[in-house]
Amino acid sequence: MTEQISPAKGLHGVITVPGDKSISHRYAMLTSIAEGESQIHNYSTGADCHSTLACMRSLGVEHEFKDVDGRSVLFVRGKGIHGLSASKDQLDAGNSGSTIRMLSGILAAQPFTTRIAGDSSLAKRPMRRVMTPLGEMGARIEAAEGQFPPLTIHGTPLHGLDYRLPVASAQVKSCVLLAGLYAEGETIVREPVITRDHTEIALRELGADVTIEPRVARIRGGAQLTGKMLVVPGDLSSAAFFLVAALTSRNSDLIITNVGLNPTRTALLDVLRGMGASIKLLHIEQVNGEIIGNLQVKTSRIKGGVIEGATTAAVIDEVPILAILGALSEEGLIVRDAAELRVKETDRIDAIAHNLRRMGVTVHTTETGIEIPGRQSFQATEIDSFGDHRIAMAFAIAALSADGPCTIRESEAASVSFPEFYATIRQIVQ
Ligand code: S3P
Repeated sequence: MTEQISPAKGLHGVITVPGDKSISHRYAMLTSIAEGESQIHNYSTGADCHSTLACMRSLGVEHEFKDVDGRSVLFVRGKGIHGLSASKDQLDAGNSGSTIRMLSGILAAQPFTTRIAGDSSLAKRPMRRVMTPLGEMGARIEAAEGQFPPLTIHGTPLHGLDYRLPVASAQVKSCVLLAGLYAEGETIVREPVITRDHTEIALRELGADVTIEPRVARIRGGAQLTGKMLVVPGDLSSAAFFLVAALTSRNSDLIITNVGLNPTRTALLDVLRGMGASIKLLHIEQVNGEIIGNLQVKTSRIKGGVIEGATTAAVIDEVPILAILGALSEEGLIVRDAAELRVKETDRIDAIAHNLRRMGVTVHTTETGIEIPGRQSFQATEIDSFGDHRIAMAFAIAALSADGPCTIRESEAASVSFPEFYATIRQIVQ
């Protein structure tokens, strides 16, 4: 599919974004292995989170969406920690790295073998990062060429592990903690920089024996989880597209409601404010251990800057949209220490550079970073999403500031995390 996006004169209104993708995956997996029924409000509408639900159904866990007071609520009938059953068919993680990597931690501990695969993008993503710690816990996993999906996971009793993550990855941390839930003794994960801690919070919320310290998470195996009512905050990484859209479109004033503001995710707001963005937090509350608030964003003069080290890891999903902001900023944007971008849904360094150049923007790339001089403008053109949701959405936002209508090719990629994305643009453009 293609989508045509015309330049906007300004953005106004009040919008919501889908439930957080990371939290939705975790709630789907954990309520499946909890005792009793859970109700999950605001579960992500994105295809990735539906891949997780489909995998859990194949493992014997029933779920259904029911209308409660005009809202779609997900009901999951948990099977208990040892209640999953072998799947007749191979599991399909679709485009979702989070699904295959985190679920591997649970599957490694089951008394059966599971094969899990995904789409052509997932088939190229590195899995050794989860195979290594799970192997050290006792699991046996086979992979294509020793490192790519499909994975064949031979479940077995696991033992605890003290593991130092070689890469900053919340998916790998979560995988090891989920395996640790089943393992004998204590499992400790030490991370080089802080990554999102939704797994630790959700595990604690459902009754696991977890300790959270900066850069160290510990879990004791053997606890039972108990199902409950959970609310998923809106996804800040999805809100990021509209934050940048409002910052860069003239005379904009936008409110985004019920956005997740977990401190391990809000480096984006610090980066934007540090560059001069006018973003206000309007109403903050805590639900299920996660922070939720409303954001008000207005057109701002953006200075630009350098993103590196731990900050790069903390805004890794937002780099595509920050690149758009960088080109329109006064001093440009330099992103360093971003090797992980090369192994996301596509090679995002190349995808960003390719599309910026198509729009007439100067950009320099290295193996681990990207440099975009400021004060540039976007020429109307055709954009390639490369089947990557964040590339499709970032360049749709760039198109709002272009000198004419742009076409996004494979625009449907957006539905991996944000099926309502183009409708939301139409709702707020002037
Ligand atoms: C995620 C962690 C990050 C992020 C991804 C979601 C998660 O990946 O890029 O979109 O839900 O834990 P890595 O753990 O590979 O850095």
